[in-house]
Amino acid sequence: SRLENRVHELQNALPPHVKPAKVENWEDLGFGIVPTNGHTRYTWSGVTNAWDAGRFISDPFVPLHIHAAVLHYGMTLFEGCKAFRCKDGRIRVCNLNENSARMNTGADRLVLPRVPVSMFNEAVDWAVRANAEYVPPYGSGGSLYIRPFLMGTGPILGLQPCPETTFMVSVTPVGNYFGKGGVQGIHASIMKDFDRAAPKGTGAVKAGGNYAADLLPLKQAKAAGFGTTLYLDCVEQKYVEEFSVSNFVGIDSKGAYVTPKTPSILPSITNKMMMQIAESKGIKVEARPLAWDEVSTFREVGACGTATVCVPIASITDGDAKHEFGKFEVLKELRDELQAIQYGECEDPYGWMREV
Ligand code: PLP
Ligand code: COI
Repeated sequence: SRLENRVHELQNALPPHVKPAKVENWEDLGFGIVPTNGHTRYTWSGVTNAWDAGRFISDPFVPLHIHAAVLHYGMTLFEGCKAFRCKDGRIRVCNLNENSARMNTGADRLVLPRVPVSMFNEAVDWAVRANAEYVPPYGSGGSLYIRPFLMGTGPILGLQPCPETTFMVSVTPVGNYFGKGGVQGIHASIMKDFDRAAPKGTGAVKAGGNYAADLLPLKQAKAAGFGTTLYLDCVEQKYVEEFSVSNFVGIDSKGAYVTPKTPSILPSITNKMMMQIAESKGIKVEARPLAWDEVSTFREVGACGTATVCVPIASITDGDAKHEFGKFEVLKELRDELQAIQYGECEDPYGWMREV
């Protein structure tokens, strides 16, 4: 097939400074960069108004013009998805169409060219297959984190859409985002000194700048001994938005699955899957404005996303008040079912998984 041939295009002569890693202890993986065989790269030109055929590139460095739009004006979007080594030994990716659609929503917002879904899939499959040895073995608890990203690489000085855009997909094997602490539960603090996003801003797309803006709040929270921050709405500081890099999900005092519905949070694909699983179990699902005052009555709280999956939030501190949450039971059951689907341990009634 075309894809098979492309995998064989793999450059075997790596630059001397780049050495793919040999992973020995899969169980010890955290959330960091492991050098792999390479990434896929596609270029869009404003002259032809078209994407090229793409390449597989071993060198992890990207030559950029000093006035590349991404460097000055932050014209960049990224995605996060995962490939799993399943129980039957095959490699499958999870719910990629959602990532492709979300990236295109972001592309429209940042006036970057859309990535056709067929190209998105090809770029991911190619990167995963050419790095198959980096997909953590079944049973290790790890997965291959896939990072598709889009950036304005053409040079511009005045603010305007970019004449050249680059789309790339890199991969790296990962374990738990929060390391061993992710199992025990994360202590979060309410962030009132900064806002993450505004209702008509870019909070609902995965723009790189959203993450740059979160670094100072996160640094302060970590200095105060917390693992993550929880943002409230920027207008009234009354409604829950989301955690630094994940959606807020909770089980309320009546046993319903509750998650905030606001225009300024990232629509999490993991959260959407958890909601579908919850519904299938007859659990009431409520995506609605969630007042912070209500959260103290919640039985369970989790931080939900591709990287974090759904980690327990042990407590949330608001000034002098610390709210502790109960045992991670319902959310754990939903998370375990999602992971059973991802690792091919049970049926996939939703059609999320696709073999690569
Ligand atoms: N919220 C933010 C700010 C994120 O960065 C992420 C991570 O992707 C999420 C939520 C979770 O989204 P998803 O489940 O699609 O990974
Ligand atoms: C993800 O969960 O995939 C993300 O993109 C969050 C990132 C900060 C690791």
